[in-house]
Amino acid sequence: MSETLRRRAVLAGIGTYLPEKIVSNAEMAERVETSDDWIVERTGIRQRHFAGPHETCAFMGAAAARGALAMAGVAAEDVGAIILATSTPDQAFPATAVHVQAAIGAKKAFGFDIAAACSGFIYALGLANSMIQAGQADNILVIGSEVYSRILNFADRGTCVLFGDGAGAVLLSARDVPESGPGILSTHLHSDGTLADMLYVDGAVGQPDKPGHLVMNGREVFRHAVTLLASAVNEALAFNNLTSKDIDWLVPHQANRRIIDGVGRKLGMPPERVVVTVDQHANTSAASIPLALAQAMSDGRIKPGQLILLEALGGGLTWGSALLRL
Ligand code: UT7
Repeated sequence: MSETLRRRAVLAGIGTYLPEKIVSNAEMAERVETSDDWIVERTGIRQRHFAGPHETCAFMGAAAARGALAMAGVAAEDVGAIILATSTPDQAFPATAVHVQAAIGAKKAFGFDIAAACSGFIYALGLANSMIQAGQADNILVIGSEVYSRILNFADRGTCVLFGDGAGAVLLSARDVPESGPGILSTHLHSDGTLADMLYVDGAVGQPDKPGHLVMNGREVFRHAVTLLASAVNEALAFNNLTSKDIDWLVPHQANRRIIDGVGRKLGMPPERVVVTVDQHANTSAASIPLALAQAMSDGRIKPGQLILLEALGGGLTWGSALLRL
């Protein structure tokens, strides 16, 4: 008897872009009163990439998208939708996604941006998955692209050392697969706007008198992060009738090594099954998960058929998780 097939959003390709310029902790210490030791001990970060003037949110997003399409062997004209997660769009409108559409020649797609800060990639993945399930599109580019260096307050050592720039993209393709086959198995999204003042940008087009810098109460974000992330991860496990032993890889949002380790410990995931890139990229917000996933896929750690759990938390507060089989 043939197995029943179901329509799933399958990760068909992944691509990344990192700005050419790498800035070490020692170089940050020339700008603010900090040290390599402090940054490494408190965060695990050793370096970050900062974008040059030509490396815009759209430029980096398009480069990452091209990589995802090339890996999938899918032509840009066959993309049905582009969802781009960012907190640092090139313009208030049009959406950076439509600039990516033009740059890659995805003529038949529709595109839009979403703002969910560091949870943006998980949110975009959740949206894309629902759209594929609903039959609205068969190929969706999900992109996280961020130029946080443009919103950092370089007079605030408590935040400016923590973030970096970059982009990552995945192509999700609709496929009819058996129950044990690849694809997104679940996404769980949350936000709590009563915690909005913990991490925000103090300006926008609607507030022209404000500079538009990132402001964060790091200690409070830290306090909430491990608990909320562990609950989002446990929600994904319970929903899929799994335990952490069933998960091959945890690919967390790369904010801080101590948060990543804390969630791993709460879950009982050994560090060998947790992907960490925060040392090389710092916190690239919505780009951090696809950047980490791409690295672990390209170096052969993550293999086809494996179960991957993604989680993120960011300004909003927003948080969530996604479970997929490669
Ligand atoms: O996607 C979510 C994004 N957000 C996060 O991931 C942030 C989560 N929070 C954190 O990662 C941590 O709270 C930080 C890394 C931001 C800070 O670590 P902490 O252990 O919570 O330090 P703290 O804020 O309690 O500050 C301790 C000390 C302070 O000095 P005093 O008051 O004790 O004399 C700070 O002024 O460290 C000082 N400090 C620094 N020293 C050297 C703060 N930033 C720096 C710095 N270099 N860059």
